[in-house]
Formats: sequence, structure tokens, C-alpha cells
Amino acid sequence: MSEYPTAERQAADLIIFGGTGDLSMRKLLPALYHCDRDGRLAEETRIIAMSRGGLDDADFRGKVDAEVRPAVSSDGGMGDGWDRFVRRLHHVSVDVGGQAGDGWDTLARMLAGHEDLDRVFYLASPPMTFGPFCRGAHEAGLVTPRSRVVLEKPLGRDLVSARVINDEVGAIFDERQIFRIDHYLGKETVQNLLVLRFANAFLEPIWNSLWIDHVQITAAETVGTPGRRGYYDHAGALRDMVQNHLLQLLCLVAMEPPSRNDREAVRDEKVKVLQSLRPIVGSEVDRFTVRGQYTAGAGARVPGYLDEPDSTKPTAASHRVETFAAVRAEVKNWRWAGVPFYLRTGKRMPFRRSEIVIQFKDVPHAIFPGATPNRLVLRLQPSEGIHLHLMAKEPGAGEVMLRPVPLSLSFADTFQSRVPDAYERLLMDVLSGNPTLFMRRDEVEAAWRWIDPIIESWDGSEMLPEPYPAGTSGPAGAHELLARSGRAWHEEDL
Ligand code: BG6
Repeated sequence: MSEYPTAERQAADLIIFGGTGDLSMRKLLPALYHCDRDGRLAEETRIIAMSRGGLDDADFRGKVDAEVRPAVSSDGGMGDGWDRFVRRLHHVSVDVGGQAGDGWDTLARMLAGHEDLDRVFYLASPPMTFGPFCRGAHEAGLVTPRSRVVLEKPLGRDLVSARVINDEVGAIFDERQIFRIDHYLGKETVQNLLVLRFANAFLEPIWNSLWIDHVQITAAETVGTPGRRGYYDHAGALRDMVQNHLLQLLCLVAMEPPSRNDREAVRDEKVKVLQSLRPIVGSEVDRFTVRGQYTAGAGARVPGYLDEPDSTKPTAASHRVETFAAVRAEVKNWRWAGVPFYLRTGKRMPFRRSEIVIQFKDVPHAIFPGATPNRLVLRLQPSEGIHLHLMAKEPGAGEVMLRPVPLSLSFADTFQSRVPDAYERLLMDVLSGNPTLFMRRDEVEAAWRWIDPIIESWDGSEMLPEPYPAGTSGPAGAHELLARSGRAWHEEDL
């Protein structure tokens, strides 16, 4: 168990490297504000942003007031709560190039006398800065036994680079101090999946290849990638979404029941799933994977990937990068033998939807014509909820007519409370020292081990990603991937 105090309200210094960047302004600071408003931050907790902005505390507070406050004000409760939050904020300027330079001295002065508090270094910066940052913090004498470091994805761009980063960070921090974040694991429905599976008895007997035909995991977005070319050209959908978010969801669906709900038991089971994934290699890559890139859509009103507004021009890499990826995965173990797991993600899709669909098999012997197999849909966003599609008889005398009807649980209607953003949960877990929802080194590396051959094959191919017009649900190949075995993607809204 954790050797950290478990009380959330333990005072801490939270240092965000990349503290004025997009992630910090859009996700971390709003999440921290909400935690503070709900009384979950200790009085003395400070939030120290490090960035190249050349700002002082007053400038940074002004920036947060201008940019973050409007985004959170619709939740009410501003007034004193907001002022208290702003008083927690500080800023330390760092050198160009991602090194802290003179910033270390300033930070050391700020942290002096606070060695007994929990100290969290949140690296909201590109992965190549992780090693240098940890070394710098160590050389400045800032890494205390109560320190933790949070690493944002992507953790490298393949197994080799992920290992280098893990080694560099691991040279300074123990594995127990390293929190590799995947924000999908903080989403309410994702955690509810564990509760659904392991706090209810009725699903377990049918959660296997005897009853389940296949599983679909979709993360579809309507947004494109304007202004992100620098990152996206070298990432692509497979690295950006599949290697982490989608594989984590697959793990939670496929894992065996852990013996306890604790940090090691849950992660041990997840890593076994990753290790059981059947490798997709050689000619299988063409058969079991699909990649696409969006072109202009909606009568050319929406630009294609190559024409998205950006400070840099498209390069050869831009032509080759996928904005859509679909993969047919298989978990080679007793429970899942023969059950395909279809994963897909894409930008500029016609809908924004993240969901897991468990498609059950047909009844063993049909006595009613027109029955369709049951389906369980776990909707992550929007409108978080769980929907079980059952067959029912339409009311009326005469011939028996069947209709699939949903048994629906909407979290918003049932619990009548705000669904917290994933980062709120995860930041609180970091502050209380609970790593259960964070990825262990072996998990990240197992995921890369499975992804690498797919990327290598795509990189070595002369084919470009299949085009699909913005606003459509991916390239034709993605539909063929399922159609070959008489299946289709779940496209229904709920
Ligand atoms: C991030 C990806 O990890 O997840 C983005 O880098 C993507 O490309 C985002 O847009 C999606 O997150 P969410 O929570 O909006 O589904």
C-alpha cells in the first residue's frame, strides 16, 4: 500500500512545468480550481507554474483570471473561492529550450522550508524534456522523499524512446514516485466499468467468448488539428490515441478480476492483457489495420488535414500521417479466444463520441423471427451512461412483433450531480499518492511493443493513408474491416 498519507487535503507544492501551455490552461488549472472550490485542497497548497513566459506572479494571475475564469465561471461559486484559488498561484520563468536554467534557483528559494510537504512535479511538456527536467530538479536539490513526478503522454514515440525516458526519469525517481497519466482512466464511465464488472455478479458468467461476439471501442472527435501540425505530423492517431487511451480501455474490458482494488493488483491484470495481445506483423498489418487522413469536407468549408491553419507548412510527414486509425485486435487467452476487439479513432468524424460496445452473440435457438443480438453500450462521452439493448415485444394483439429497446442508465439523471473532469480525479489521486489509475512502466512498454510493428509496417509502405472527407465516419477500409466478417460499426446515437 501507499506510504503516502492518504488524506487528500495534505498540503503540497504542485509545480507545473509548461504551466502556461494549452494543457495547463485548458485542463489542469480549471480542474484544480474545481478541486479547491469543493474544499479538496489544503489551505497551504501552492500551484507554481514554470514557463518561458517571463511572467511574474501578478502577470500569471492576470492571465489565469482572463483565460481560465471564463471557462469555469458557469459552474458558479466564484467570488471568494476564486480569489482564494488565485492566491495559490505563482510563476517561475525558465530558459528557452525546456531547461529550467536560472529558474531552478528561484524555485529552490520558493520551496525552501517546505521539504516536509508533498511535492509534485507535473511535466505538461514534450517528452524530450522529461529527462533533462528530472536531472535539473535533482541537481538543484529539489527532489525530496515526498516528491512525485507526473508524466503526460505521449511517453516516447516507440518502445526504444519510451525506455530511454523511463530510464532517465527512473534514475532520479523511484517507480512508486512516477505517475504516468492517461486522462481516459480518470473519466467517470471508465471507472464505472470496473464497478459494473466487479461489483455486480450477473455479468461475469457471460463476459467471455461463449456469449460475446465482439467488442468495439470508438473515440471519435469532430475537431480537426488546427495549430497542432508540429505535434501531430510526428504522432498520428495510432500514437496519439490508440497506444494509450484505447488500449487502456481494452485492458479494462478484457482484464481478469483483480484480487483487490489497489495499485498493483489492478495494474498487474491490465499488463497481462497487453502481453496477451496477438502481435500484428507483416502482411497482417494490411489486413487488420486501416489508416486514413481527412480531406476537405462540407462542400470544402472544412479544410483537409494538409490545409489546416498552422504556423508551419505541410511536409512529407504531413502527407503520410494518419488522422484516423482502426485496428482489429485479439486477446489470446482462454476468456477471449476468437473475440475480435475493434478499435477506432478519428478526427473530423461526423460525431463526437467515445464508447465501448459489447456485442453479444445471437440466441442459441431462435423461436421469434426478427430478434437481434443484445448489445451493451458504455458511453464515455458525451452523455455518460450505460445502455443495454434488449429485445421486447411491441404491445398489441396479433402477430408477435419484436423491437430492440434500451435499458438506459444516464449518470447525469441518476446522480444529479456534475460529472467531474477526468483531471480532477487524477490530480487528487496524485496529491493523495494513489497510483492505481496511472500507468506502470511495464504497461507503457507492453503497449509500445504491440504498436511498434504496425507503425514500422506503415512507415515502410508506399501507400498513403486512405482519404476520407471531413465529416464522414472514416475511410471505406474501416467499414470493410468489419464487413468482411459480416459486422458493422455501431453508429447509432443513443
Ligand atoms: C488527447 C489527444 O490525449 O486526447 C488529443 O492528444 C485528443 O488529440 C484528446 O483530442 C481527446 O480527449 P477527450 O477527453 O476530449 O476525449
